[in-house]
Amino acid sequence: MTRIGFAYNQKPAASQLSEPVSDRPRGDDEPPSTRRDLSSRNLSTPASALAAASIAAPASVATAQDDRFAEWDGPETIDAVADALGDLGTVIRLEADDDFPAKLRASRPDIVFNIAEGLNGVNREAHVPAICEFYGVPYSGSDPFTLTLCLHKGRTKETLAFHGVPTAPFALAASLADLRLITRGETRLPVPSEKSPLFIKPVHEGSSKGITERNYITSPAALMETGEALLDAYDQPLLAETFLPGMEFTCGVLGNGKDAVVLPIVGMNFGTLPEGAVPIYGFEAKWIWDRPENPLDIFQCPADIPEALRAEIEQVVLRTYHLLGCRDWSRIDVRLDAAGAPHIVEVNPLPGILPDPADNSCLPKAARAAGLSYDELIQRCLTHAAARTGVRVPRRTPRRLEVVA
Ligand SMILES: Nc1ncnc2c1ncn2[C@@H]1O[C@H](COP(=O)(O)OP(=O)(O)OP(=O)(O)O)[C@@H](O)[C@H]1O
Ligand SMILES: [Mg+2]
Repeated sequence: MTRIGFAYNQKPAASQLSEPVSDRPRGDDEPPSTRRDLSSRNLSTPASALAAASIAAPASVATAQDDRFAEWDGPETIDAVADALGDLGTVIRLEADDDFPAKLRASRPDIVFNIAEGLNGVNREAHVPAICEFYGVPYSGSDPFTLTLCLHKGRTKETLAFHGVPTAPFALAASLADLRLITRGETRLPVPSEKSPLFIKPVHEGSSKGITERNYITSPAALMETGEALLDAYDQPLLAETFLPGMEFTCGVLGNGKDAVVLPIVGMNFGTLPEGAVPIYGFEAKWIWDRPENPLDIFQCPADIPEALRAEIEQVVLRTYHLLGCRDWSRIDVRLDAAGAPHIVEVNPLPGILPDPADNSCLPKAARAAGLSYDELIQRCLTHAAARTGVRVPRRTPRRLEVVA
C-alpha cells in the first residue's frame, strides 16, 4: 500500500486567535464566492465591516495581520483531500507546523501530497517542498523555485515578458520615492489618468489581500495615497501595472509535459457586480458583494467565448505553465487588453481547492466541467506527481480526460 504523506496548513480555530475573530476576513487561497460556510472558516461575522472601512477610509486597508492565515485551509478542505487520497493509499497527515521536518523524517512516506501554503515571507510556499527535497521524499506540485517565483508577481511577469508571453506593462514600487517616479512618468508606465488607469497590488499576496476598488488608480494623487496605505499595511513592494480593461478568465491546468491540459475555462461576468463597480475580481467581489441571500453569480464555466479566443487563451496559459516550471496542477488568471488579446495576470501553482461546489472554488469547478469529481481532481494531481517521480500508486482513474469546452 502506498504511504501518502499529506502536508497542509490548517487555519487556527477561532479560540486560538489572539484578536477578535470579527476583525479577520475568512477564506482559503481562493475565497469561496458565498458565505454559506462561514462557521467553518472560524469567523462569526462577515468581513464586510473591515472591507467597507477600507473603501471609505483610505488609511484602513485590510492589513497583513488581519488576513495572516487567509490562505490556509479549513478542516473541510483538509478532510476532503485526505478522503480522496485515502482511495490511493494510506494517508499520513503531516500538518506543516514546527514539527513538520521531524514528522516527515520519522514517517518517510512514499510521496507527499502538498497543499501547505506556509506562513512567512516570499519563500513561504517553498518551505514544505524544500524540506521534502532535503529528505529525498517525492512530493506533488511545483518545486520550491517555481512556487517562490509565482508568488512574486513581479518576478513572474519579468520572466514572462522576457519570453514574449503577453502580460501588462509594470513597475515595482518599494517606496514612496518609487511611486513618485511613476507619477512623473519616469517609468515604463503611463502617468495614471482616467484614460490610462493603473492597477496596484502587494507583490506577493493572494486571496485578494490588499486588492480593493481603490487599487484602480486614475490619478497621481490616488497612486500616492493608496500606494502609501498598501506599503504601510503589507510591508512589501507594490506591483503597478497598466489596467487590463477586458474580460477576465481563470484557467485550471492539470498534468505535465505534452499531456498537460487546460480544463474548461472559467469566465467572470462583471455585469453581476453592483452598478458602477470597477470590473475586477477583488476583495469586495470575493468577500462583500457575494451573500447567501443574494449570491454573486459571477462565474461561467465553460466560458461562453469564441473558439478562436479559447484556443488563444489555452495557448498562452500552457506556455506560461511550462515556462514557469509548473507541475501537476495550477490555476492561471488571464485578462484581455483593450484590443482583446489575452494577458497573464498571475499564476497560482498552489491553487485553492474548496470541496463544496457552493463555494465556487475555480479549479474544482473547472474539473467538474471536465467531468472530474473533486476526488478525481485530487487523485489526478497525485498520480501525475507519482508518474513524474516513479512512485507506484494504484490507477484509480484510467479514463482519459475529456475536456468539454
Ligand atoms: N493589471 C490588471 N488589470 C486589471 N485588473 C487586474 C490587474 N491585476 C489584477 N487585477 C484584478 O485584481 C484581481 C486580483 O488580482 P490577483 O489575481 O493578482 O490577486 P490574488 O489575490 O493573487 O488573486 P487570487 O484570489 O486568485 O489568489 C484579479 O482577479 C483582477 O480582477
Ligand atoms: Mg488571482
